[in-house]
Amino acid sequence: MENFIRAVPKAELHLHIEGSLEPELTFDLARKHGVTLKYPNVAALRAAYDFSDLQSFLDLYYAGADVLRDEDDFHALTTAYLRRAHDDGVVHAEIFFDPQTHTARGIPFATVFGGIHRALVEGEREFGISWRLIPNFLRHLSADEAMRALEELLPYKRHFAAVGLDSSERGHPPSKFAAVFERARKEGLRTVAHAGEEGPPEYIVEALDLLKVSRIDHGVRCEEDPALVERLVREQVPLTVCPLSNVKLCVYKRIEDHNLKRLLDRGVKVTVNSDDPSYFGGYVLDNYLAVQRGLNLSRADMAQLARNSIEASFLDDASKGRWLAKIDAIAA
Ligand code: ADE
Ligand code: ZN
Repeated sequence: MENFIRAVPKAELHLHIEGSLEPELTFDLARKHGVTLKYPNVAALRAAYDFSDLQSFLDLYYAGADVLRDEDDFHALTTAYLRRAHDDGVVHAEIFFDPQTHTARGIPFATVFGGIHRALVEGEREFGISWRLIPNFLRHLSADEAMRALEELLPYKRHFAAVGLDSSERGHPPSKFAAVFERARKEGLRTVAHAGEEGPPEYIVEALDLLKVSRIDHGVRCEEDPALVERLVREQVPLTVCPLSNVKLCVYKRIEDHNLKRLLDRGVKVTVNSDDPSYFGGYVLDNYLAVQRGLNLSRADMAQLARNSIEASFLDDASKGRWLAKIDAIAA
């Protein structure tokens, strides 16, 4: 089964590049920039990855990003992710980054974008991984700050498939960012948003109705609203689900409790992704394997998840058709 899942072409659609920062690279970059870390070594830092909820993770995640200072750092971070994703059979990656996390520390947007973009272009050549880039706004900051972040990224908009929304969900509903997302859509950008991870199903409805999102990131709490589940099936709205993340952040106690299989059987277009793999103990293949074992998924289920990942991507139709044919050939 592991070989089958690895061999099936997969798209990863929910990956925060800052969340792929492995402790080894954190220490390398801290040394390079003369930064003193709160932890004495790699093992101690990794041992701190024990979270009680989304906020307890975000506190560490934002602190960790502080070692990313120059273009080469963002390049190294992105290249390490692509190498790892390639090993897992990822053929297409749609990558989130958080511009405000860096610009607030005085790192120019051009530095962040330049390093990530250079690695993606090189990675496509070396690993054959196609890509899309999606800047996210931090929802714990104000809508005015998000609007300023949008203005700053607009000169680069041809490089972005969409804009997204992440960070602390509870108390920061999608409606707070309606004007920012409207502006982004007027500029020709698609939209996605984290919703229904910790927040209520109403946030998923708001993301659909007010932010006009093409996909929901997480979305697992949709199940609490049967009419919403019906709508997600009817409109075939993709959910970018992150199973190991949900367990690490205590959305579910155990992988066996996850609702991915129920949603899949119900006809929701669910996909499997790694979110912040360095912090949550697994890259995309680990996530596929965790749900396969924990929820007793069949080969047909796994092939459907791979198919969903391609269909839910922002690839053009011809590329989607080529990958879907390959999945069908392998799954036959
Ligand atoms: N930023 C990085 N990972 C996130 C997650 N799982 N939810 C919200 N914001 C995030
Ligand atoms: Zn996320």
